Amino acid sequence: MKLAVVGGGSTYTPELIDGFARLRDTLPVEELVLIDPAADRLELIGGLARRIFARQGHPGKITTTSDLDAGVADADAVLLQLRVGGQAARNQDETWPLECGCVGQETTGAGGLAKALRTVPVVLDIADRVRRTNPNAWIIDFTNPVGIVTRALLQAGHKAVGLCNVAIGFQRRFARMLDVTPAEVHLDHVGLNHLTWELGVRLGGPEGENLLPKLLAEHGGAIAEDLRMPRELVDRLGVVPSYYLRYFYAHDEVVRELGTKPSRAAEVAAMEKELLALYGNPALDEKPALLGKRGGAFYSEAAVDLAASLLCGGGSAVQVVNTYNRGTLPFLPDDAVIEVQARVDGSGAAPLPVPRLDPLYAGLIANVTAYEDLALDAALRGGRERVFKALLSHPLIGQYEHAEGLTDRLIAHNREHLAWA
Ligand code: G6P
Ligand code: MN
Repeated sequence: MKLAVVGGGSTYTPELIDGFARLRDTLPVEELVLIDPAADRLELIGGLARRIFARQGHPGKITTTSDLDAGVADADAVLLQLRVGGQAARNQDETWPLECGCVGQETTGAGGLAKALRTVPVVLDIADRVRRTNPNAWIIDFTNPVGIVTRALLQAGHKAVGLCNVAIGFQRRFARMLDVTPAEVHLDHVGLNHLTWELGVRLGGPEGENLLPKLLAEHGGAIAEDLRMPRELVDRLGVVPSYYLRYFYAHDEVVRELGTKPSRAAEVAAMEKELLALYGNPALDEKPALLGKRGGAFYSEAAVDLAASLLCGGGSAVQVVNTYNRGTLPFLPDDAVIEVQARVDGSGAAPLPVPRLDPLYAGLIANVTAYEDLALDAALRGGRERVFKALLSHPLIGQYEHAEGLTDRLIAHNREHLAWA
């Protein structure tokens, strides 16, 4: 089995390699190609990746290349984990929306739209090239904003599944609290990427007993603290929102907070410097602890599980992924991309049925889906007016003065990445 990672020069890659090494029985990777335009980083990361495989006795071969077409040739799956414009562009996304009193975040709100506009054309070009050299390859998309990017890929006819680590993070945390293995924990996970709620936590599978009330009674304080939301709010909802819901439920508080501290991009850039220095040490042959301070915990395990189900039947039968709605949430179009539990096998992902959703969640999901629709239109066709309309439709923006100010800033800060601007 051959896998290719586009964005293989990311400082996150050792997390992925560590997962491939530990879980080699689930996903027997024979050849792994790290692809990245940044040749210097690629060499550094490739060296560490080989040392991690060697330390763990993994027989697989790791190669590196900046030539996309050569790298993806014959790959069974291609993982996309790229960031157009790097942390510098992210820093912008997290900064200028604050000038309009709106949240500055890499995937939520105006910053997320900027990221979508920069990213969708690049990802579609890569996917076209993958399909040209290798029509059967699966595309596993980690590239944010995952919902919009996955929808772009599916609409263009690609064999794609979108993936995020939020669900697997909850699964691991709840398993520890319940003192069971992660595989035993089934989540009733519903929503859109970075806009989800855990409506139930079941033991054994979709039909298992719902232990969420017990979890909230016994661990509600710790769960709320992790989310940085008041416990009272979590208790009143009676479900567990993802921490991205804090940008909605505590928007103004977050905006005030962000105004007083360096951006996450700045923090991450500092960490990346340190990480790259560590990676350059030829004695290092494992994922360093510092990588644990990044948000991507467990993403390698989610990737292994998904790739194994798509390629060799070795992964969990049911996984949380991003895929077409196809009637699962009846208030959304069939071609909206949702993030839910799905049955995954060699033919792809098929969402499990979801009971009727409380309007408290359905309303926000419908609104953000409408935004994602307009955002994708803006990303595919460009133009100031499409950007403005996407921003106007977003539940965290809404007012035309904000949308105007954000549109000007988004275009001014992203001109070099937008072919039409
Ligand atoms: C989580 C999200 C990812 C996001 C990451 C950011 O893992 O699911 O989609 O990219 O956090 O982490 P960072 O360390 O870059 O802030
Ligand atoms: Mn994510």
